[in-house]
Amino acid sequence: MSTRAAPPAAGTDIAPLANVNGERVPLAEAKVPVLDRGFLFGDSVYEVLRVYGGKPWLEDEHFARLGHSLGEIRITGVDLDRVRRRVRETIAAGPFHEATAYVQITRGAAPRSHPFPSGAVPFELIFVQPFRDPYVEARQNGGGVVMLEDIRWSRCDIKSTNLLANVLSMQAAKEAGCLEAILYRADGTLTEGTHSSLFGVVAGTLRTAPRTKAILPGVTRGLVTRLANEAGVPIDERGLKREELARVDELFLTGTTTEVLPVVTIDGRPVGDGRPGPVTRRLQETYRRTVSAFLAKAD
Ligand code: PDD
Repeated sequence: MSTRAAPPAAGTDIAPLANVNGERVPLAEAKVPVLDRGFLFGDSVYEVLRVYGGKPWLEDEHFARLGHSLGEIRITGVDLDRVRRRVRETIAAGPFHEATAYVQITRGAAPRSHPFPSGAVPFELIFVQPFRDPYVEARQNGGGVVMLEDIRWSRCDIKSTNLLANVLSMQAAKEAGCLEAILYRADGTLTEGTHSSLFGVVAGTLRTAPRTKAILPGVTRGLVTRLANEAGVPIDERGLKREELARVDELFLTGTTTEVLPVVTIDGRPVGDGRPGPVTRRLQETYRRTVSAFLAKAD
């Protein structure tokens, strides 16, 4: 086997590009004022989009969720159509092919004080960077997760940049050599991962947490649910409990960058027969086909 690294995929060497309040700059030169409330309070919301072949994937769904997050935290005066155009312009300026587009909107800069300031102008940040897929091997063979208590707040439906609980939990997963942490609440309910949604398969039925304020309504979760419906796979949105994990046949995660990722061990114990299962495989294939159809479609 060669020890030489594979050459970078086309376009992966393009420098990340930002758009800060309408101004295009190299990401390395983008700046945020220290009094920005996103920086001081985490008073901001965000989205991460996958760009396939230079086209933003599931754009309508991401912007709908961004609108929901902005509405829930009462940031007003943001022209989302303009943000959307800027995302597309930034992708084209690279030009980026396989990439991610990050969008963050904060309440803006103002003297530090907890209540909303009057007159602050929302800060709009976009950056696009090449995506070097770290999940190729795990999508094929599956990966492990750890179980951790969900220590997040009670409005996880808002895609806020307050991600400390997610960061600490993901670091614990990484230190355990795992791909993700699966989070459970005090009553044993499984919610989701630190940056992905969770699905199980029990006796042929897909199980995922209901769409409540306890989870982020994943855009990929939404698509996978629709694909499962179309494929005739029954879905039960009652979610899963910790004690049910022993009889789960398959488990997988979904997310913008993870796509459909089989989970084959939990805290070192095998899920089912310890290999990616047939329902997961079927949904992975359907997902890939849906991306291919999107790429083939003219704009
Ligand atoms: N995370 N749950 C959480 C807590 C997430 O942060 C994410 C996404 C998901 C999956 O959502 P989607 O399918 O819309 O990507 C579920 C992004 C990618 C991130 O924070 O980087």
